[in-house]
Amino acid sequence: MATAGLMNSWVTILLLILLPLFSHFPCGTEAYYADFPSANLSVSWKNTPFNEQGSLDFVDGSTLRPILLAYNVTQSYPPFGLGFFTNKTLISFSMPASVFYLVVFMMTRVTVSDNDSDREYQFIPTMPPKVLWSANRDSPVGENATLDFTAEGDLVLRDEFGNLVWSTNTSTTYVARMEIGVTGNLMLLNGSNGMVWQSYDLPTDTWLPNQKINNGQRLTASNSSSNLSTGIYYLTVDKEDNIGIRAFVDSDPPEEYATLLDGSFHAIGGPAFGNAYNAIRLYTDFAVFYFNFAASPTDFRFIVLEPNGHLILYFVDTSYPYTFAVEQRRDLLAAIIDSFGDCSYPAVCGSYGVCSGGGQCACPQDNTGTSNYFWPFEQGIECAEITPLSCDHGSKYHTFVDLPNVTYFDFVPTLFATTIDECKEACLNNCSCKAALFRYDTDVSSEIGYYELSE
Ligand SMILES: *[C@@H]1O[C@H](CO)[C@@H](O)[C@H](O)[C@H]1NC(C)=O
Ligand SMILES: *[C@@H]1O[C@H](CO)[C@@H](O)[C@H](O)[C@H]1NC(C)=O
Repeated sequence: MATAGLMNSWVTILLLILLPLFSHFPCGTEAYYADFPSANLSVSWKNTPFNEQGSLDFVDGSTLRPILLAYNVTQSYPPFGLGFFTNKTLISFSMPASVFYLVVFMMTRVTVSDNDSDREYQFIPTMPPKVLWSANRDSPVGENATLDFTAEGDLVLRDEFGNLVWSTNTSTTYVARMEIGVTGNLMLLNGSNGMVWQSYDLPTDTWLPNQKINNGQRLTASNSSSNLSTGIYYLTVDKEDNIGIRAFVDSDPPEEYATLLDGSFHAIGGPAFGNAYNAIRLYTDFAVFYFNFAASPTDFRFIVLEPNGHLILYFVDTSYPYTFAVEQRRDLLAAIIDSFGDCSYPAVCGSYGVCSGGGQCACPQDNTGTSNYFWPFEQGIECAEITPLSCDHGSKYHTFVDLPNVTYFDFVPTLFATTIDECKEACLNNCSCKAALFRYDTDVSSEIGYYELSE
């Protein structure tokens, strides 16, 4: 009996020690949340597994460490937040731990604790966050990086060595607090709730409800869904030329692959966009383009310029409790450029790849059907020269592989009324020319262009 009594008191002591530890350092997916959408200055967060609001691991290899969270379980909108995010599939031997991004995210599913009255909820490991914005997409930070909301009102991200990575530069503007909005806008506000700074002014790859894209601003695709760094596609709005929205591949010079609207269009509608009130409107007669979704978080839509150059409209289904399924609603560029299916997108087969059959990639072959000049270093996606071209050797050692009935997405002729031999000659005499494209015009005179294909 005495022994049992002793054991009981040991158990009690252990519990007393462990419980406070868990509530201060939640880990894995143990964290329970109530709303914490704002912070006053001055406060600092450190990127560690012991983050005050938990470090949540998801089955796709991503980890999220929330800093702010806007959510109300009694209402049907998804949780939005600010936090440190990484996708561990990125971590390779050559590039270890420095892969955290400061992001605005949206969660697609929560579970509510059994005791519904305390209004607490948890995230689910199988449902990773959807990243909507990133502060440091091209400068990821490591463990122990810090985010400081300084006494002066500056929001400052420093890497693990204390080096400045990113800042809002708002120390002279009377910022009093920061807040995450329920449409994914991170805001710095002054003492009278006036907007001083917002992430909506610095779009990355995602266009959110009521976010204005100003003349000259860009929406820039990420490299991949786990590598958030700047990819090769971007979208601009162009008022000066009264053209509308233009999509480019970021080569030198940039090459346009789609124009979404011309000046005569003011809106695109249809069932995918809901009723007229919710329709996406693109006002070409204003300096800003405005995807005027109803700013309602319960009917949440957003547009992403994807890593593959597609422009996708997403819709968040809020009709089921605690579930916010993200559905692809429309490929906005499809009707304009998809005459060749996926082959219409510039880099779908990488450098030198030839796209056919709506998305099959192959390396260029000569008319004997062999490919002696290119090899597929990434099967079905990327081709490389077997012997790289060099300017040192001069043009007499160079010849052409003929590829009949192949075209290029951005054909801008540079020579007119010429012959196929003159076209080859012009390319051979220009060291930076790697391919020539020859096309007969619709009338008898031929039309021709040669290209400096950038890699
Ligand atoms: C920020 O300060 C205001 C006013 O003092 C207070 O009401 C609010 O609770 C504070 N918010 C946080 C997150 O500390
Ligand atoms: C959540 O929404 C309910 C219903 O609108 C409201 O009464 C409550 O105050 C909200 N809770 C928070 C934390 O904002």
